[in-house]
Amino acid sequence: MANLKLSGVAKSYGNVEVLKDINLEIETGELVVFVGPSGCGKSTLLRMIAGLERISGGTLEIDDQRMNDVPPSQRGIAMVFQSYALYPHMTVRDNMAFALKIAKKTKDEITAAVEKAARILQLEDYLDRLPKALSGGQRQRVAIGRAIVRDPKVYLFDEPLSNLDAALRVATRIEIAQLKEAMPESTMIYVTHDQVEAMTLASRIVVLANKGIAQVGTPLELYERPENEFVAQFIGSPAMNLLPGRVIKTGAQTTVQLQGEGVAVSDIATVADDLGKPVNVGVRPEDFVLTDGPAVLDGKVDIVEALGEVTLLYFVPERGQDPIIAKLPGIHGELRGNSVKLTADPSKVHLFMDGKSLLYR
Ligand SMILES: Nc1ncnc2c1ncn2[C@@H]1O[C@H](COP(=O)(O)OP(=O)(O)OP(=O)(O)O)[C@@H](O)[C@H]1O
Ligand SMILES: [Mg+2]
Repeated sequence: MANLKLSGVAKSYGNVEVLKDINLEIETGELVVFVGPSGCGKSTLLRMIAGLERISGGTLEIDDQRMNDVPPSQRGIAMVFQSYALYPHMTVRDNMAFALKIAKKTKDEITAAVEKAARILQLEDYLDRLPKALSGGQRQRVAIGRAIVRDPKVYLFDEPLSNLDAALRVATRIEIAQLKEAMPESTMIYVTHDQVEAMTLASRIVVLANKGIAQVGTPLELYERPENEFVAQFIGSPAMNLLPGRVIKTGAQTTVQLQGEGVAVSDIATVADDLGKPVNVGVRPEDFVLTDGPAVLDGKVDIVEALGEVTLLYFVPERGQDPIIAKLPGIHGELRGNSVKLTADPSKVHLFMDGKSLLYR
């Protein structure tokens, strides 16, 4: 049981600033997921919380106690890494017991802790095996077991599934969701590159970018109400389309004349002063629908990707520009090379001015 509070946390290596002014509160029992582009500082932030990396500025509190100078072993934290590095010559049981032996726990305490973890992780049948006789997913579970036996207040996971193949990732993701349910009081922070893991596991997602936090919210808040273009395009796949244009009608609904021919209507309100201003209209690929009426996009389909359950249509405005992508349910191979008209419901049309969503003005 633990809550965490980061206030103005910063990290520099020499004169290279990696993170600055990170403010974040995590409640007991939350599973918070950190996402962000490679190199944005996700692992660094996790390692600072664990105490494996010095905090250059600001404070970290766990249960209202300042932790900046508390050694890792006394923070009540266990970390599971991507490369789980089990001891190859030790059985599953001994791998899980190792930290407790070092901590000089009694034999009975160790047995009880290992058996409880094995039960939660369904590793009871494998306790006497060596790691080489386990599958990748089972090894990853042993690595998680090594964390569980220590009964930490906070679990930190740094891309724990990225070494697994696709099918195993799905299975292990569901196991982690069940593990969280079995331990409702544990606080977890989880770093991943995988959109689906982030959307399905997180109570809240923290999007890191440009040395700071781009947005914090529940998965659906980030999907439905992104605060800025970065989050809008980072969450969701394929990414949200951004179409430049100018405001031609303001009020409770806003109308935008797009570059080219399209016109978009959004339920986001604007004020008279916005008339004529440049905006980016945001439409998710899955929010485009075919229409006979006024269109947001009227163009020739350059590429079709039929994925079975959905079809992706690519419109390449000009060489070198990003394609506009629409995702239609079902199979539409016949649309290749054809001209189609697409629109989107005004409730699904986002508006960004200077990179920021007008929803939050
Ligand atoms: N010891 C170090 N000295 C200097 N720079 C470092 C050091 N460790 C990390 N960095 C830099 O800090 C930045 C953040 O690294 P970090 O490993 O936290 O990124 P990440 O978000 O976890 O990336 P990835 O998604 O690739 O794992 C990177 O630009 C990295 O080069
Ligand atoms: Mg990392």
